[in-house]
Amino acid sequence: MSPLCSLLLALALAAVPGIRGACPQPADLKNANGTRMCAKLYDKSDPYYERCCGGAELSVQPGTDMPYLPSGWGNVASSLVVGQRCDLVVWSSRGKAGKKHKFSTGTYPRLEEYRRGLFGDWSNSISSLYCRCPPAGPRP
Ligand SMILES: *[C@@H]1O[C@H](CO)[C@@H](O)[C@H](O)[C@H]1NC(C)=O
Repeated sequence: MSPLCSLLLALALAAVPGIRGACPQPADLKNANGTRMCAKLYDKSDPYYERCCGGAELSVQPGTDMPYLPSGWGNVASSLVVGQRCDLVVWSSRGKAGKKHKFSTGTYPRLEEYRRGLFGDWSNSISSLYCRCPPAGPRP
């Protein structure tokens, strides 16, 4: 995310705290039982950052390997959040084929801003994923 986008996002979040559909922060990505969630995908983004991360949600636990996404999730995700010290690797085709991209810890309200190849972007383009949260320690 560019510094400008981060700033705009921060301003949007500050201006409308707690509005429905606003993206959570990576540190807030937890399961109901308090354990860490690796990533969360959402089917709706929006030109307004505070309305991103809306619609259906797909919770991804650490260590999840999904060459095929659950029914209804192929080429659907438009916003996502990756938890602290976690990485989400995504592919544009089923079976981990096609284009590949790694999202590190962070909030990604508008996947249309992330380029996939020369002409595409990552909104409605995720077909496989792998999410991991390596144990704490030095990272390369
Ligand atoms: C906590 O909840 C998550 C999501 O439902 C589940 O995958 C995980 O196994 C649970 N962990 C514990 C310790 O109950």
